[in-house]
Amino acid sequence: MAVNRVRKAVFPVGGLGTRFLPATKAMPKEMLPVVDRPLIQYAVDEAIEAGIEQMIFVTGRGKSAIEDHFDIAYELETTMTARGKSLDLLRQTRLTPGAVAYVRQQEPLGLGHAVWCARDIVGDEPFAVLLADDFMVGTPGCLKQMVDAYMQLGGNMICAQEVPDDQTHMYGVITPGVRDGALTEVKGLVEKPPRGTAPSNLSVIGRYILQPEVIRVLETQGKGAGGEIQLTDAMAQLIGDQPFHGLTFAGTRYDCGDKTGYVNANIAVALARADIGPSVRAFVVDLLR
Ligand code: G1P
Repeated sequence: MAVNRVRKAVFPVGGLGTRFLPATKAMPKEMLPVVDRPLIQYAVDEAIEAGIEQMIFVTGRGKSAIEDHFDIAYELETTMTARGKSLDLLRQTRLTPGAVAYVRQQEPLGLGHAVWCARDIVGDEPFAVLLADDFMVGTPGCLKQMVDAYMQLGGNMICAQEVPDDQTHMYGVITPGVRDGALTEVKGLVEKPPRGTAPSNLSVIGRYILQPEVIRVLETQGKGAGGEIQLTDAMAQLIGDQPFHGLTFAGTRYDCGDKTGYVNANIAVALARADIGPSVRAFVVDLLR
């Protein structure tokens, strides 16, 4: 079976970020930093590591800081050069010209709608979707692990993780089939099932490798859970027609769409850093004493 390589990734970044107000009143939630890099930067770096060549951002009003972040910062570069400072960190955040595209999702109609907005740039080839507020820490990164499995299996692949039973109503939930190590066959998908009705606690985490057919399905996809056009509902239509697997990634996920998860991510990343880790650890130990 010839499997087409994944070259493009869609980053839906049009969401309002109301859970982080007032921090996100004038700043995109994807620009919230974990220590010193914005969430969206970690997601883009993860995509680059996985071999993605084109980044497609589905943005909305008030999100221009994301475009600036991946652009050249002339003023900073000029001033820092004049002061003899290294430009390495700035340069790492520049995306190759032509390797980035932005489309506007004019109304927040849901994740499925956001992906559909990118249809002309995605074209007729497999693509990845990364939700930046699922902050994934692993070696190799989550998307790389998925791409490696996808190259063997083809079809559609989602990141899957067991969540506590009382949280399944916040996720896309999988009806699991055969399990083989980290891989689970996906037999069904339901978006945000009401409490007590979830088919399992194996849930969809915000990393996807999808075949272009999902976009055809999205064209006519009606509203689902929460009155939004759901990617999960469109993916469910492909089950049976194309291979569909969930990969339980080896690593840690932090839900940075949630305040506790976001603070946890900052603590974990800070403690793991060679530069600030020791002093943060000393502080935390002292604080907890
Ligand atoms: C989205 C998806 C959901 C998935 C979740 C993972 O939901 O719709 O299927 O489980 O991301 O984070 P959201 O968190 O945007 O409500």
